[in-house]
Amino acid sequence: MNTILVGAQWGDEGKGKIIDVLTEEADIVVRSQGGNNAGHTVEVGKEKFVLHLIPSGILRAGKKCVIANGVVIDPVSLLKEMDGLEKRGIKLAGRLLISETAHLVLPYHRALDEARELRKGRNKIGTTKRGIGPAYGDKAARTGLRMIDLLRPKNFSLKLKARVEENNAILESLGGTKISFKEVEKTYLEAGKKLAPYIANTVVWLHQQLEKQKRILFEGAQGTFLDIDFGTYPFVTSSNTTAGGSCTGSGVPPHRMDRVVGVMKAYTTRVGEGPLPTENQEISDMLHAMGREFGATTGRKRRCGWFDAVATRYARVVNGIDELAITNLDGLDSLKEILICVAYECRGKRIAFPPNDAEELLHCRPIYKKFAGWQKDTSAIRHFKKLPLAAQRYLKAMAELTGAKLRIVSVGAQREQTFEA
Ligand code: GDP
Ligand code: IMO
Ligand code: MG
Repeated sequence: MNTILVGAQWGDEGKGKIIDVLTEEADIVVRSQGGNNAGHTVEVGKEKFVLHLIPSGILRAGKKCVIANGVVIDPVSLLKEMDGLEKRGIKLAGRLLISETAHLVLPYHRALDEARELRKGRNKIGTTKRGIGPAYGDKAARTGLRMIDLLRPKNFSLKLKARVEENNAILESLGGTKISFKEVEKTYLEAGKKLAPYIANTVVWLHQQLEKQKRILFEGAQGTFLDIDFGTYPFVTSSNTTAGGSCTGSGVPPHRMDRVVGVMKAYTTRVGEGPLPTENQEISDMLHAMGREFGATTGRKRRCGWFDAVATRYARVVNGIDELAITNLDGLDSLKEILICVAYECRGKRIAFPPNDAEELLHCRPIYKKFAGWQKDTSAIRHFKKLPLAAQRYLKAMAELTGAKLRIVSVGAQREQTFEA
């Protein structure tokens, strides 16, 4: 059984937590897109881990993890993350593989990300400033450097020199900070030496594991509406965050994928700019007052709103979501009344799917259906049938309106605060 797990909203749906739970029934966990813009939180007992590049499956002893070809890697940041895990007793040797064809995020990518955002002013995307857009830009423009280049120092230096020169000219024109070739060369070649034992042909390795009937879990990063094709462009990230990205980002073909799990919160959040039809100040204030919904990567306040079934319905069709994992149900525990957006009204018409164009989305108003709240603490509940009836009804409506089967419910950040529906 090979499973793709994707975010069905705007990222931060609780993918890390659900991956940690599903890893129990997998042998290998693979990240196939995005970079250290991701922040996946897993809480086990008193320990809290936030993973950026390393698959969340690393926290389960004996499981193997792959950072596959579709990921963009900042090697310095990766080494820091590896070091942090090792210091907390998580062994990586023999358990982590890094694709030799994954592209590198270089300091000029971060500087360009920052400079471009600054120039955009009010029209900024609100990126994580990790250099993700410029790194994928270089990949598409065929001017990127890859992990394998780190293993060939002479070649790396030659390519890097040319890239630093070109990017410094661009940075100068944008008023950004220029990069020192010598410094980057030294830091990256040192990082390359440390990472060398982990770098491999992960496509061949994954196919060898498939031959051995190993079960693979694909850990999506970001969410459907941050997808470069299906998201609210241009307020998106620069990779395919939807199910197809797991295939192109790993070399595992579509017919080897057995099911797609969509993760969604019981409400909606987004961090960064761009449209969010069901955004609601009261819910944002309530969740922030509870100390929740602060970004795991940048610490920014997430924007919050009601659950948007128009969005998740679209996520179900573009990802082929079979099963749903609903997280953060407990976030709504205190509410008397809860709304779900069931359709949009757009230029006088009722529509069931979001328009393709983010600008058009600004002309859409959510049509809500009201649900009774349960006003009861759900965080200690471990069986679906033990949930207040109003909560059961709410969850069933979320799944029905999305059009997929409800499989997992999460009522807290801890591993144990999870049960099958
Ligand atoms: P990811 O990027 O999709 O992995 O999600 P993040 O880790 O960025 O954000 C999800 C946040 O919600 C994290 O702080 C998790 O610890 C937390 N979380 C996940 N599921 C639940 C839940 O059911 N209840 C509560 N209270 N917190 C949860
Ligand atoms: P996980 O995997 C939430 C958002 C940024 C910004 C936009 C583009 O933790 O769900 P980028 O740095 O990628 O160029 O930023 O995408 N973004 C995320 N939002 N969760 C994430 O990852 C995100 N990764 C990027 O806030 O709006
Ligand atoms: Mg996150």
